[in-house]
Order: sequence, then C-alpha cells, then structure tokens
Amino acid sequence: MDYLLALDQGTSSSRSILFDRQANIVAMAQREFPQYYPQSGWVEHEPQEIWQSQLATLRDVIHQSGISPNRIAAVGITNQRETTLVWHRKTGQPLFRAIVWQDRRGEALCRTLREKGLEPFIQERTGLKLDAYFSATKLSWILESVPNARKLAEQGELAFGTVDSWLLWQLSKGRVHATDVSNASRTLLFNIRENRWDPELLDLFGIPANMLPEVLPSSACYGQIDETIVGHAIPVGGVAGDQQSALFGQACFKPGMAKNTYGTGCFALLHAGGHFSVSENGLLTTRVAQQGGALEYALEGSVFVGGAVVQWLRDGLGIISQSAQVQSLAESVADSGGVFFVPAFTGLGAPYWDANARGTLTGLTRGTTAAHIARAAVESIAFQSAALLDAMSREAEAGNGVALQELRVDGGACVNDALMQFQADLLGIPVVRPQMIETTALGAAYLAGLQEGVWSGTAELSSLWREERCFEPNIGRDEAARLMENWNRAVRQTMAT
Ligand code: G3P
Repeated sequence: MDYLLALDQGTSSSRSILFDRQANIVAMAQREFPQYYPQSGWVEHEPQEIWQSQLATLRDVIHQSGISPNRIAAVGITNQRETTLVWHRKTGQPLFRAIVWQDRRGEALCRTLREKGLEPFIQERTGLKLDAYFSATKLSWILESVPNARKLAEQGELAFGTVDSWLLWQLSKGRVHATDVSNASRTLLFNIRENRWDPELLDLFGIPANMLPEVLPSSACYGQIDETIVGHAIPVGGVAGDQQSALFGQACFKPGMAKNTYGTGCFALLHAGGHFSVSENGLLTTRVAQQGGALEYALEGSVFVGGAVVQWLRDGLGIISQSAQVQSLAESVADSGGVFFVPAFTGLGAPYWDANARGTLTGLTRGTTAAHIARAAVESIAFQSAALLDAMSREAEAGNGVALQELRVDGGACVNDALMQFQADLLGIPVVRPQMIETTALGAAYLAGLQEGVWSGTAELSSLWREERCFEPNIGRDEAARLMENWNRAVRQTMAT
C-alpha cells in the first residue's frame, strides 16, 4: 500500500494527483469544466459535470501511473469551499445546479438579517461574516425558489452538501453523506465552537436539519469508493476544504504558522491554535483541517485580485500579450517609479473592507512607462498580502501571544522570485517556498494517509516538508514602513473615489 490519491475539485478544474509515501508526485491529471453565468452576479456549475470531470481525472491518473488500484492506501478529497448542492436522496439526482461560492444571489437575505442586527450573533458562533459568499443563503435560496424544494426537504427526501459531500456521495454510490469540520465551518450553519450544526442558525436560515451531512474530523473513516469505480474499493480517509488543506499540506500545524496561496486571488491562513476570537479587522475565523476532535482554529483573509491583476494587464490594458511576460517587464525597471496600483476592481477585502472601492493608479508622471505599471501591479499582490498578514499577525499575537514567524507560500505566482523577495521585505519575516507547491492536494493525501496509518503523525509530516528557497527580508523596517505608508495612502485615495 504505497500510494495516496488526492482528488482536488477546484472552481475551474478537477484534478487528481497520486503521491508516494515520500510525498512525491507520481502522476497527475486535470480537466476543466464549464462555468455558467445565468445573470449578473450569479455563478453556477452543473453537478454532473463536476462529478464526471473528477471521475475522469481519477481514472486518468491511475491509468497514466500504471499502478494497480489495490496499491492505493487511501483517497483524500479537497475542494472549492462554500459551493452549495442539493440532491434527491433516493435517486442521487441534483435538484438544481451547484451555486458557486462567487455567486451573490444571497445578498438580499444577508442584508435583511444584518438590518435585524443579527451579524454579531452569527459571528460568535460561526467565526464568519454574514455574507452571500457562504453556503447558508445559497441553500435558503434553493429551498425558496426551486418548485417543491421546501416540501421535499421537510419530508426528508433531499440532501444538502458542499462539493466534498457530493463527491463522497457519488464515490460511495449513495452510501455516505458526510463532510468535514473545515467544510462545515464555511456554511454559516455550523457552530465552530460547539462542533455541531447549530439549531438556532438552522432556524434563522430556514434549513431543515435532516438535509445536513454528518460532520467528521478531516482525517477520519469516510467509507470506501465503490469497487465498480476503479475495480477496487479504496478507503476515503481525508476530506478538507482547499484552503485548510493547503495549510495542512504546508505542515502548518502549530499556532503562528501561516501560508499564503498566490492564485487569481490570494488566500492567507494563520493557525490560531485553540484560541477563538471574532476579528476586529474583518478577518474570518475558521476551523483548520485536523485529526481528532480538538477545537483548532485559523484566521483567514483573502485578497480578491491577486494574479488576476496580471490578466488585466494582458486583457484589459494590453501591455503584455502573455501573462508570463509580466516578470521581465516588471524587472526591466529598478522600482515602480513612485507608481502605486490598487487593483480594487471588485472592492477591497480585509483589512480594508470597502465594497465600493474601485481600482486606482497613483503617482503617474510623464516618465511613467508600461514597465513601471507592470511593476506596480506585481507589487500590489505583495502589498495587499502584507496588509492582510500584518492584521492577522497582530490579532494572533493579541489572542494567544504567538505572532507570525515565517510565511510559507504556494500557488501559481509563488514561482515569481522578485515578488516573493518583495513580500519578505514588506513583512520583515522569511518567506519560504517549499519544493512541493501542490500543497492543496498534498494536504488531502496527508489527511487520508494519517487515517490509514501510512504516516505516524504530524511530526513525520513536518519532516517531509522541504524548503526550496527562503527569501530573507533585506530592507530595513523603516523603509518597509515607509513603503506600506505610501501604499496605504494610495488605498485611501481608492476608497475616496
Ligand atoms: O473559498 C473558495 C475557495 O475554496 C476556492 O478555491 O482554488 O477553487 O478557487 P479555488
């Protein structure tokens, strides 16, 4: 039993990765699937397309590797979080399309509940903001809007799940209806401090309890994939939402350890140990992926426009024709020449929270060139992450006395050395890139492997984490403070527009 299979079901593609015991990749397969935008602010996926694309990669990866399925010790699942599905228990047929995390249709219900002053009550139990991002208002919309849905739900005929639950149901041919704590903690229905679906929250959003999946630790026995799928029944031993899975895959098991994923947006998570607090900077408190039942939390924040700023340089501004060109263009100048680019295309997230802010370029002169703008764009990814991580670190230190010591990085843009160096300079702590940057899938493989006894515990997993390169800060703290001050001045101008 030498291999672990991770299923990584993301927002734009499904992937499967086969790992060996040393956490090396043996084979990988990926398939994209369609996105549906039925009206402004709505984003949907077809549940069968999610499943079929995932199944295809699962079979591809086994085929490619030439490894017999009976040598796979366990399967781990990691997934786009919050995305909401409802299906018929008897037939497994979806009742409606999956409503994706980016979908804003729940905003009206959020506003009503906010006006009733219910946000603090909800935050105290879930650690989340009252926002349409999370599953509760999406599920409530389905129950209200799909003909017969509420009646069927009340009769116990419907099942709700996030993408992990949907995949588990399909993989087990309807035998398993479960989720893990990290996914449950993104629904707005799960009391993360009492580790249970919260009856008062269910009441508030009008959700019948009988629709909900059983919640297990992230490393646990989730049944087996049906033997007809790859000719062998393989146990499913791990489930986690993708960001928490990446934190686990980065071996951030202790308070004060953090990771930042540099993708289209950036997702930063800082392990907060057993300390729960409601953030004063608009950060989220969420449960980490974990073994066992201890209550362990992380602070989470996201940068809405990270790598997407490079796509805009390409598709909107047209100063590069391929994303990869950004690095050489940005590095063709020594600095941004006083230009700051705040890419608040869709508003600003933590720690600023201004939904109405819009993007701004400041400091332009006759001497400004495309290269300065490209440099300012790349730097904006580091500036936004630094502001976020700085707020996280201060909150963590106030909560349990442990500030951020180093930042572990992953995601597509972490290969950009200049960006990582600038990130270290701004933060004043080492930024460390691991050899293995497929940390999301690796986290799921770790969780599954722990359950099956492939690895002895987190200490062994920590020893498998290997540094590829460490970026030490090489500017003074005064200089970093001056840069952040200038950035914040540009942000204030953005918010005033
Ligand atoms: O919270 C949303 C997040 O889980 C989505 O991740 O990587 O599929 O964009 P990704």
